[in-house]
Amino acid sequence: MTSRPYVIDEMISAKEIAARIEALCREIRKTFPSNERLVVVGLLRGSFVFIADLVRELSDRDVEVDFLEASSYGNAMESSREVRILKDLRGEIGGRNVLVVEDIVDTGYTLSHVVSLLKSRLPKRLQTIALLDKPSRREVDFRADLIGFEIPDEFVVGYGIDYAQCNRNLPFIGKVRFTE
Ligand code: PRP
Repeated sequence: MTSRPYVIDEMISAKEIAARIEALCREIRKTFPSNERLVVVGLLRGSFVFIADLVRELSDRDVEVDFLEASSYGNAMESSREVRILKDLRGEIGGRNVLVVEDIVDTGYTLSHVVSLLKSRLPKRLQTIALLDKPSRREVDFRADLIGFEIPDEFVVGYGIDYAQCNRNLPFIGKVRFTE
Protein backbone atom coordinates (compact mmCIF):
# COMPACT_ATOMS: atom_id res chain seq x y z
CA MET A 1 0.00 0.00 0.00
CA THR A 2 1.39 3.46 -0.87
CA SER A 3 1.32 6.47 1.40
CA ARG A 4 2.33 10.12 1.19
CA PRO A 5 5.82 11.01 2.51
CA TYR A 6 5.72 11.72 6.23
CA VAL A 7 7.69 11.85 9.45
CA ILE A 8 6.57 10.74 12.90
CA ASP A 9 6.88 13.02 15.94
CA GLU A 10 6.77 11.28 19.31
CA MET A 11 3.64 12.24 21.24
CA ILE A 12 3.46 9.74 24.14
CA SER A 13 6.66 7.92 25.12
CA ALA A 14 6.98 4.21 25.90
CA LYS A 15 7.79 5.17 29.50
CA GLU A 16 4.63 7.29 29.82
CA ILE A 17 2.54 4.45 28.40
CA ALA A 18 4.06 1.94 30.86
CA ALA A 19 3.37 4.24 33.83
CA ARG A 20 -0.22 4.79 32.69
CA ILE A 21 -0.79 1.06 32.29
CA GLU A 22 0.31 0.50 35.89
CA ALA A 23 -2.24 3.09 37.05
CA LEU A 24 -4.99 1.63 34.83
CA CYS A 25 -4.37 -1.84 36.26
CA ARG A 26 -4.80 -0.47 39.78
CA GLU A 27 -8.29 0.66 38.65
CA ILE A 28 -8.99 -2.71 37.03
CA ARG A 29 -8.10 -4.45 40.33
CA LYS A 30 -10.71 -2.32 42.14
CA THR A 31 -13.44 -3.48 39.72
CA PHE A 32 -12.58 -7.13 39.21
CA PRO A 33 -11.83 -9.32 42.26
CA SER A 34 -8.44 -11.03 42.01
CA ASN A 35 -9.90 -14.45 42.89
CA GLU A 36 -12.19 -14.47 39.83
CA ARG A 37 -10.90 -15.23 36.37
CA LEU A 38 -10.91 -12.30 33.95
CA VAL A 39 -11.55 -12.66 30.22
CA VAL A 40 -9.56 -9.97 28.44
CA VAL A 41 -10.92 -9.36 24.94
CA GLY A 42 -8.74 -7.52 22.44
CA LEU A 43 -10.17 -5.88 19.34
CA LEU A 44 -7.99 -6.76 16.38
CA ARG A 45 -5.78 -5.57 15.08
CA GLY A 46 -4.82 -2.34 16.82
CA SER A 47 -5.11 -3.55 20.43
CA PHE A 48 -2.52 -6.34 20.21
CA VAL A 49 0.37 -4.39 21.78
CA PHE A 50 -1.75 -2.77 24.51
CA ILE A 51 -3.37 -6.06 25.49
CA ALA A 52 0.05 -7.75 25.72
CA ASP A 53 1.29 -5.15 28.20
CA LEU A 54 -2.01 -5.04 30.13
CA VAL A 55 -2.25 -8.78 30.78
CA ARG A 56 1.39 -8.97 31.90
CA GLU A 57 0.67 -6.18 34.41
CA LEU A 58 -2.26 -8.31 35.63
CA SER A 59 -0.08 -11.36 36.27
CA ASP A 60 -1.40 -11.55 39.87
CA ARG A 61 -4.60 -13.24 38.64
CA ASP A 62 -6.02 -15.81 36.22
CA VAL A 63 -6.56 -14.16 32.85
CA GLU A 64 -7.93 -15.61 29.64
CA VAL A 65 -7.17 -13.78 26.40
CA ASP A 66 -9.57 -13.76 23.48
CA PHE A 67 -9.87 -11.65 20.35
CA LEU A 68 -12.61 -10.18 18.22
CA GLU A 69 -12.28 -8.36 14.92
CA ALA A 70 -14.77 -5.75 13.82
CA SER A 71 -14.80 -3.56 10.77
CA SER A 72 -16.83 -0.42 10.28
CA TYR A 73 -17.98 1.04 7.01
CA GLY A 74 -19.03 4.64 6.59
CA ASN A 75 -22.27 5.43 4.84
CA ALA A 76 -22.11 9.06 3.79
CA MET A 77 -25.73 9.09 2.59
CA GLU A 78 -27.12 8.17 6.00
CA SER A 79 -24.23 9.48 8.13
CA SER A 80 -24.24 6.14 9.91
CA ARG A 81 -21.83 3.23 10.20
CA GLU A 82 -22.32 -0.43 9.81
CA VAL A 83 -20.06 -2.43 12.11
CA ARG A 84 -19.45 -5.99 11.01
CA ILE A 85 -17.91 -8.76 13.07
CA LEU A 86 -15.17 -10.36 10.97
CA LYS A 87 -13.92 -12.68 13.70
CA ASP A 88 -15.90 -13.60 16.79
CA LEU A 89 -14.63 -14.74 20.21
CA ARG A 90 -13.48 -18.32 20.59
CA GLY A 91 -14.82 -18.60 24.14
CA GLU A 92 -18.09 -18.06 26.02
CA ILE A 93 -18.46 -14.95 28.20
CA GLY A 94 -21.90 -15.58 29.78
CA GLY A 95 -21.68 -15.09 33.58
CA ARG A 96 -18.01 -14.08 33.39
CA ASN A 97 -15.90 -10.99 34.09
CA VAL A 98 -14.93 -9.35 30.81
CA LEU A 99 -12.55 -6.51 30.00
CA VAL A 100 -12.76 -5.25 26.40
CA VAL A 101 -9.52 -3.67 25.20
CA GLU A 102 -9.35 -1.11 22.40
CA ASP A 103 -6.42 0.94 21.12
CA ILE A 104 -8.37 4.07 20.22
CA VAL A 105 -11.95 5.36 20.33
CA ASP A 106 -12.65 7.73 17.49
CA THR A 107 -16.28 8.03 16.31
CA GLY A 108 -17.19 5.41 18.93
CA TYR A 109 -19.11 3.18 16.49
CA THR A 110 -16.80 0.17 16.80
CA LEU A 111 -16.62 -0.11 20.57
CA SER A 112 -20.28 0.80 21.20
CA HIS A 113 -21.38 -1.88 18.75
CA VAL A 114 -19.05 -4.48 20.24
CA VAL A 115 -20.20 -3.66 23.78
CA SER A 116 -23.88 -4.09 22.80
CA LEU A 117 -23.08 -7.41 21.17
CA LEU A 118 -21.08 -8.73 24.11
CA LYS A 119 -23.58 -7.51 26.72
CA SER A 120 -26.30 -9.50 24.91
CA ARG A 121 -24.29 -12.59 25.93
CA LEU A 122 -24.94 -11.69 29.58
CA PRO A 123 -21.46 -11.43 31.12
CA LYS A 124 -21.34 -11.07 34.91
CA ARG A 125 -19.56 -7.74 34.53
CA LEU A 126 -18.16 -6.01 31.45
CA GLN A 127 -15.84 -3.04 31.34
CA THR A 128 -14.09 -1.29 28.47
CA ILE A 129 -10.61 0.18 28.35
CA ALA A 130 -9.12 2.29 25.56
CA LEU A 131 -5.53 3.45 25.46
CA LEU A 132 -6.44 6.57 23.50
CA ASP A 133 -9.62 8.60 23.29
CA LYS A 134 -10.42 11.31 20.74
CA PRO A 135 -13.62 12.81 22.20
CA SER A 136 -13.71 15.58 19.57
CA ARG A 137 -14.36 12.93 16.88
CA ARG A 138 -17.25 11.23 18.63
CA GLU A 139 -20.41 10.54 16.61
CA VAL A 140 -22.20 8.27 19.08
CA ASP A 141 -22.72 8.72 22.80
CA PHE A 142 -20.05 6.41 24.13
CA ARG A 143 -17.20 6.61 26.61
CA ALA A 144 -14.89 3.79 27.64
CA ASP A 145 -14.87 3.00 31.37
CA LEU A 146 -11.09 3.44 31.52
CA ILE A 147 -9.03 5.69 29.26
CA GLY A 148 -5.26 5.90 29.00
CA PHE A 149 -4.86 9.27 27.34
CA GLU A 150 -7.32 11.77 25.93
CA ILE A 151 -5.81 13.23 22.75
CA PRO A 152 -6.73 15.92 20.22
CA ASP A 153 -7.77 15.03 16.67
CA GLU A 154 -4.28 14.11 15.44
CA PHE A 155 -3.27 11.34 13.07
CA VAL A 156 -1.54 8.95 15.47
CA VAL A 157 0.44 5.76 14.92
CA GLY A 158 2.49 3.28 16.92
CA TYR A 159 1.92 0.94 19.85
CA GLY A 160 -0.43 -1.13 17.68
CA ILE A 161 -1.90 1.68 15.56
CA ASP A 162 -1.06 1.79 11.86
CA TYR A 163 -0.81 4.07 8.91
CA ALA A 164 -1.31 2.01 5.72
CA GLN A 165 -0.58 -1.10 7.85
CA CYS A 166 2.85 0.20 8.96
CA ASN A 167 4.13 1.62 12.28
CA ARG A 168 2.15 -0.75 14.53
CA ASN A 169 5.51 -1.93 15.92
CA LEU A 170 6.67 1.47 17.21
CA PRO A 171 7.02 1.32 21.02
CA PHE A 172 5.55 4.84 21.45
CA ILE A 173 2.56 6.82 20.16
CA GLY A 174 3.58 9.23 17.44
CA LYS A 175 1.93 11.94 15.40
CA VAL A 176 2.10 11.67 11.61
CA ARG A 177 3.32 14.84 9.91
CA PHE A 178 3.13 14.87 6.12
CA THR A 179 6.15 16.42 4.47
CA GLU A 180 4.64 17.01 1.01
C1 PRP B 1 -9.51 1.47 14.39
C2 PRP B 1 -9.23 1.31 15.87
C3 PRP B 1 -10.58 1.07 16.46
C4 PRP B 1 -11.52 1.82 15.54
C5 PRP B 1 -11.92 3.10 16.20
O1 PRP B 1 -9.55 0.20 13.83
O2 PRP B 1 -8.36 0.25 16.11
O3 PRP B 1 -10.93 -0.30 16.45
O4 PRP B 1 -10.79 2.09 14.33
O5 PRP B 1 -12.75 3.84 15.36
P1 PRP B 1 -14.24 4.26 15.70
O6 PRP B 1 -14.31 4.69 17.12
O7 PRP B 1 -14.46 5.40 14.73
O8 PRP B 1 -15.14 3.10 15.40
P2 PRP B 1 -9.33 -0.09 12.28
O9 PRP B 1 -10.67 -0.27 11.63
O10 PRP B 1 -8.41 0.94 11.69
O11 PRP B 1 -8.65 -1.51 12.30
P3 PRP B 1 -7.30 -2.04 12.97
O12 PRP B 1 -7.52 -2.07 14.47
O13 PRP B 1 -7.15 -3.38 12.38
O14 PRP B 1 -6.16 -1.11 12.58
